[in-house]
Amino acid sequence: MRILVTGGSGYIGSHTTVQLVAAGHEVVIADDFSRSKRAVLGRLEELCGAPVACRVVDLTDREATRELFEQESFEAVMHFAGLKAVGESVALPLEYYTNNLGLTLSVLDAMRATGVKKFVFSSSATVYGEHASVPMREDMPTSATNPYGWTKVMQEQMLRDLATAAPDMRVALLRYFNPVGAHPSGLIGEDPHGVPNNLMPLLAQIAVGQRNRLNLFGRDYPTPDGTARRDYLHVEDLAAGHVAALDALSSREEAVSTWNLGTGTPTSVLELVAAFAEASGRVIPTVDSARRAGDIAESYADPTKAQTELGWKATRTIQDMCADTWRWQSSNPTGYPDA
Ligand code: WQD
Repeated sequence: MRILVTGGSGYIGSHTTVQLVAAGHEVVIADDFSRSKRAVLGRLEELCGAPVACRVVDLTDREATRELFEQESFEAVMHFAGLKAVGESVALPLEYYTNNLGLTLSVLDAMRATGVKKFVFSSSATVYGEHASVPMREDMPTSATNPYGWTKVMQEQMLRDLATAAPDMRVALLRYFNPVGAHPSGLIGEDPHGVPNNLMPLLAQIAVGQRNRLNLFGRDYPTPDGTARRDYLHVEDLAAGHVAALDALSSREEAVSTWNLGTGTPTSVLELVAAFAEASGRVIPTVDSARRAGDIAESYADPTKAQTELGWKATRTIQDMCADTWRWQSSNPTGYPDA
């Protein structure tokens, strides 16, 4: 299929693009490069064995987005574009609502105008809110504790309402747990814009000497070692989940399908620190710190639905995630070049 991948130069979008091309799909990336580097395109060409078409466009501009869809004949959209920093969203709620909701409304409007029916949405386990029991299941209620999370809850609702009005749509809501890792070549990986918020890129930057130490946000959680537990998922498994969801959409009865993409296995902060120290052969200095506002003790998936309905199951281990992250970071100590 000819697929538009919005935000395709970003972390998840770039890894998914490689797997879509390998699966025989034709990919066009749309990106404004506000949070990513153009150098990703050269790496994608190397991994895909051919240039990946890229259109530089502000997808919040309805006219420009409509023109893009009229010029190209897309058969599906994978929508990764959006702002995703929790802390930043608390400080800049208007920018987050305007950008994240605006992007999606603009793309959906262009899809409706040009008859594109398949839409794969980058959602997040953050929609389970702070009171969800574990393991999280797709039928649990959604809520949020920050504007970023609310933009995901709201976009899921927008998509459910659109599908009610246009039942020939086929929408996949993919709820990512904690994506980490990198393509095993070390050519593409996570290159956070600014100071990373997430644990794994921080560990990688400490190991490679970009940062001094890790603040351990709380050791008094009700967990075996006192640190919070998360469902870390290798980005290659996550990308494979997108390809599987896209393939399944045509045969789905329902207009909207929701799938957790997680391993179902929780890992604590201290366990990940130890695994990364092992993989990198570097010492990771830590300092005990207060809990981070908004953090929950445990978040991990019930991955049964995606396994049953998509035939998808995560295969990479925590060791794979750390080894692949380290290969990317040690080959690209400061991330992608400013090309
Ligand atoms: C993981 C664990 C921290 C940094 C976030 C977003 C979520 C999604 C994934 C987009 C937690 C601890 C972290 C540090 C630490 N993003 N930690 N010291 O918070 O589970 O999820 O990223 O969809 O929406 O909320 O991931 O990597 O930030 O934190 O101790 O310097 O590492 O407290 O327990 P999180 P994370």
